[in-house]
Amino acid sequence: MPSKSFELKNSSSGLTTSLPVRAGTLGPEVLDIASLYKEQGVFTFDPAFGATASCESKITYIDGDAGVLLYRGYPVEQLAEKSSFMEVAYLLINAELPTARQLEAFSHSISRHTMINESLLRFFNGFYHSAHPMAMVSAVVASMSAFYHDSMDIHDPRHREIFSHRIIAKLPSIAAAAHKHSVGQPFIYPNNELDYCSNLLNMFFAVPCEHYEVDPVAAKALDLLFILHADHEQNASTSTVRLAGSTGANPYAAISAGVSALWGPAHGGANEAVLSMLEQIGSVENIPKYLAMAKDRSSYFRLMGFGHRVYKNFDPRAKIIRETCHEVLHKLGDENNPLFELALRLEEIALQDEYFVSRKLYPNVDFYSGIIYSALGIPRSMFTVMFAIARTVGWVAHWLEMVSDPAMRIGRPRQLYTGPTRRDYVSVALRRG
Ligand code: ACO
Repeated sequence: MPSKSFELKNSSSGLTTSLPVRAGTLGPEVLDIASLYKEQGVFTFDPAFGATASCESKITYIDGDAGVLLYRGYPVEQLAEKSSFMEVAYLLINAELPTARQLEAFSHSISRHTMINESLLRFFNGFYHSAHPMAMVSAVVASMSAFYHDSMDIHDPRHREIFSHRIIAKLPSIAAAAHKHSVGQPFIYPNNELDYCSNLLNMFFAVPCEHYEVDPVAAKALDLLFILHADHEQNASTSTVRLAGSTGANPYAAISAGVSALWGPAHGGANEAVLSMLEQIGSVENIPKYLAMAKDRSSYFRLMGFGHRVYKNFDPRAKIIRETCHEVLHKLGDENNPLFELALRLEEIALQDEYFVSRKLYPNVDFYSGIIYSALGIPRSMFTVMFAIARTVGWVAHWLEMVSDPAMRIGRPRQLYTGPTRRDYVSVALRRG
C-alpha cells in the first residue's frame, strides 16, 4: 500500500476520501482514484486525457518538458545511432536488448512470416486504384483476424508470440501490396534474404521485368525512421489498440483499429499533411501569410508537424530526423531539396514567433520525416503507412503488456451526461412542429 496519499474533501457533504499516491520509476506521481466513485459517488472529468494515466506501463518514457524519450530506459538518440529497427523491436517487446543469438533468432523468425495468404492478397482487387493506402492497410489487417481467429488464444503465450512476429513481418508485405495496387504493378513477393527495410524497399520498387538493387543509403534511412517511430507510450493509436484489445478482441482487429486511429492528421497523418502544406506555402515569402492563418483561431489551418500534447520542448525525434535529412539528401545528391529548405526556414521563423514560443509549439516527429520518405521515392499517400509499419512494434508491445497481465479488465470510460432528463414518448401524430 503506498504510504503517500491525497485528501479529497467534498465541500457540500464534508466527506473526505484518502486517495493513494503512486510513484513510478520516472515522471510525475499519480493519484489512484479507483475508490473515488464508490466512496464519493463522483467521476473525474478529463475528456482528452490531458491529465490521466490510463495504465501502468514499463515500455516507454517521455519527459515532454525536457524533450526526453526512452525505450525500456534507453535514450532514443543512442538507439538511433547504434541500434537497428529489429533490435529495437526485440527490446520493446522483450524488455531487454537481445544477445547476438537472440537477435538472429528473432530476425529469422520475422523473416519466416513475411508472406501473406494469397486470398488476402486478392482483397486488394476489391479496392479502387485510388483508394487511400491507409484504408486498404487497415481493412486488410482487420481481415487477418478472419485468417487467424480459431488459432489465436490470447491467453496462450506461444500464440501471442506467433501473433507478434506474424504482424510485424506481414505489415511491410501488406503495405507494399497496397502500393503496387495503387500504381497498377504486380505484387513483388518478399525476399527473406534481405533485411527488414531492404525487403520493404524491394517489394515497393522492384518490378518483375528488371533487376532492382536496394540502395543501402535508403534502407539505412528507413531503418532509422522506423526506430524513431517504433513507440511513443499511450498516444491515440496505442490507446486505441489497448482499448480494443481490452475487450479480448482478436489482436489483428485491435491493430487495425490502431492503424485507423493513426491515420488522422492530428496524429500520424500529419507527415502527409506536412508535405501538402509545404507545397501549398510554396516559397519563403509566403511563410508569414500561412503563419498568420495558423494563429487565427477562426481558420482551421494549423501548422502541420508542429505542436505536441506531451512535448513542450523539441521533440527529440524531430531533431534526429532533421539531421538525417541533411545526410540523406546529401548522399542522394538532393542537397538543395526546395521543400527541405522551406521547412528549415519555416521552423526558424515559427520559433521566433511569440505565438509559437508562448505555447511551446516545436516541430514534432512528422515535420521532417515526409521529406526523407519523399526523397526515397515513397509516394505521399504512403507516408502514414510507413509510420504504421514501425508503430506496429509499439502496438504489439503494449498489447502484450496488457494481455499478459492477469488483472486486465475491459477499458470502459464514464461520462458527464448533459442530454435530456427522462421524458415520455409522444406518438408521431401528437408531435408538433
Ligand atoms: N498550429 C497552430 N496552433 C497550434 C498548433 C499548430 N500546429 N498546435 C497547437 N496549437 C495551439 C492551439 O490552437 C492552442 O492555442 P490556444 O491555447 O490559443 O487555444 C494551443 O496551441 C494548444 O494546442 P492544443 O490543441 O490544446 O494542443 P493538443 O495537445 O490538444 O494538440 C496536436 C496536440 C494535436 C499535436 C496539435 O499541436 C496539432 O494539431 N498539431 C498539428 C498536427 C500534427 O503535427 N500532429 C502530429 C503530432 S505528432 C504524432 O502524433 C505523431
